[in-house]
Amino acid sequence: MDREKNSYDSLAEHYDVLERDGEKITKKINDFLGSVFKKHSVKAVLDVSCGTGAQAIGLVKEGYKVTACDYSEAMLDIARKKAMGLGLSFAKKDMRSSSYGQFDAVIAIFNVVAHVDKEDFKKTLKNVWSNLKNEGIFVFDIISLEGLKSDQSVRRWYIDTMAENKGVKYVRFTKECLDKNNNLLKVSHKTYVQKPSEQLKKLKESWELQLYPMAELKQLVKSAGFEILNIYDENGKDFGNNTAESAYFVLKKS
Ligand SMILES: C[S@@+](CC[C@H](N)C(=O)[O-])C[C@H]1O[C@@H](n2cnc3c(N)ncnc32)[C@H](O)[C@@H]1O
Repeated sequence: MDREKNSYDSLAEHYDVLERDGEKITKKINDFLGSVFKKHSVKAVLDVSCGTGAQAIGLVKEGYKVTACDYSEAMLDIARKKAMGLGLSFAKKDMRSSSYGQFDAVIAIFNVVAHVDKEDFKKTLKNVWSNLKNEGIFVFDIISLEGLKSDQSVRRWYIDTMAENKGVKYVRFTKECLDKNNNLLKVSHKTYVQKPSEQLKKLKESWELQLYPMAELKQLVKSAGFEILNIYDENGKDFGNNTAESAYFVLKKS
C-alpha cells in the first residue's frame, strides 16, 4: 500500500534539515554500514530507498560501487544535485517489485520498511532476496515496538525541530500516537517554514508506520529465506533489551 509517496515528494526540499539533522547521524549510520560491509567483503551495494542520498553518497565516497534507487522523484532530484561529480546515478524504482541486478549487499535505511504494510513488507523481503547474490546481505532498520512501548514520555504536540539553513528558518511540531491494536505508529508534523522576504508557509504531513513485535519480525525475515546474522541497536550494540529505539537487522540470503 502506497501510504506516503506524496508526503516525500512535498517534503523533499526540506528533508535533510528536518529529518537528517546534519552530517552527524549520516556519518554514524554509514560508519556502522562500513563495519558490517568490511566483515562480509561487500563491494557492490544496492540502496533501494536512497531518499536524498544519505547512505548512497557516503558509501560511494568510501569506495563502494553503489546503485541508488527510490520511488520519489523529488527525493531523487535532491540526491542528484548533492552527488554531482561523484559518478553516482539515481533511478526511480519501487523496492517491492523492481529488478535491479545481483548485489553483495542491499540496504533500506531509516525505518523504510515501516512505510509499507505487512503484505508489502513481505513482497519487499522477497524482492530484496532475489536481487542479492548467494550469501549476500540485507541491512535494514526499524523502530522497535517494544522500545516504543517502554517509553513513557508524553507524545502529544511538541516542538521537535527548530533549525536554520541557508537563511531559511524552520519550526516543526510533532504528535505521535501508537495504535496498539494494529502496531501502527501515527506521526503528524506541522512545519512552519520562513524563507527570507516570503510569507510564512505551513507544511503538514502525516505518516503511518507499521511496526512489529520482535518475534514477528524474526519470523517474517526467516520465512522470506534470510538467516539472521545479527540484530543491533541504534548504537551498533547487540539488540539485547526492550528499551532500544531501533533494531538494525543484518541478514544473509540463505
Ligand atoms: C525515511 S526516508 C529514508 C531515506 C534515506 N535512506 C535516508 O536515510 O535518509 C524513506 C524513503 O523511502 C522511500 N520509499 C518508501 N517506500 C518506498 C518504496 N516502496 N520503494 C522505493 N522507495 C520507497 C521514500 O520515498 C523515502 O525517500
